[in-house]
Amino acid sequence: MKILVINGPNLNLLGVREPALYGNRTYADLVRFIGASARDAGVEAEVFQSNHEGEIVDRIQSARGAFDALVVNAAAYTHTSVAILDALKAVGLPTAEVHLTDPRRREGFRHVSFVKPAACATFAGLGFGSYSRAIRFLVQRFRAPTAK
Ligand code: DQA
Repeated sequence: MKILVINGPNLNLLGVREPALYGNRTYADLVRFIGASARDAGVEAEVFQSNHEGEIVDRIQSARGAFDALVVNAAAYTHTSVAILDALKAVGLPTAEVHLTDPRRREGFRHVSFVKPAACATFAGLGFGSYSRAIRFLVQRFRAPTAK
């Protein structure tokens, strides 16, 4: 099973960005954590980050036929992007929405998620743990019984 993890804008600045909210660990730490979580779950994971909405749409489209499931932290685009929602719906891959923080406990403008209607589940507020929970969920729910 192959999972594509997509990270949106400003997540590349983890470690520098608002550490009181997002912690001191860096984006490279997150990528290593995702790799380890995938290995523990017995699946392959690739990680993609972009600050650009159109690049995220392109990456979602090109995942069709190449990946079995998506983990998406669209970051600020979560709250604005119909284009990302439409791309997720178009490819139809099982998708878990993740957030490091819990947007529902933050400013009102973060309470809307355009990713949610295309997602089977949302994991939020668990820091890096949101990603490991999402990977485990997708593996349990969608790994084909014979596939490794
Ligand atoms: C975020 C939450 C979003 O509201 C915010 O814009 C982000 C990160 C999170 O992981 O907690 O950039 O998706």
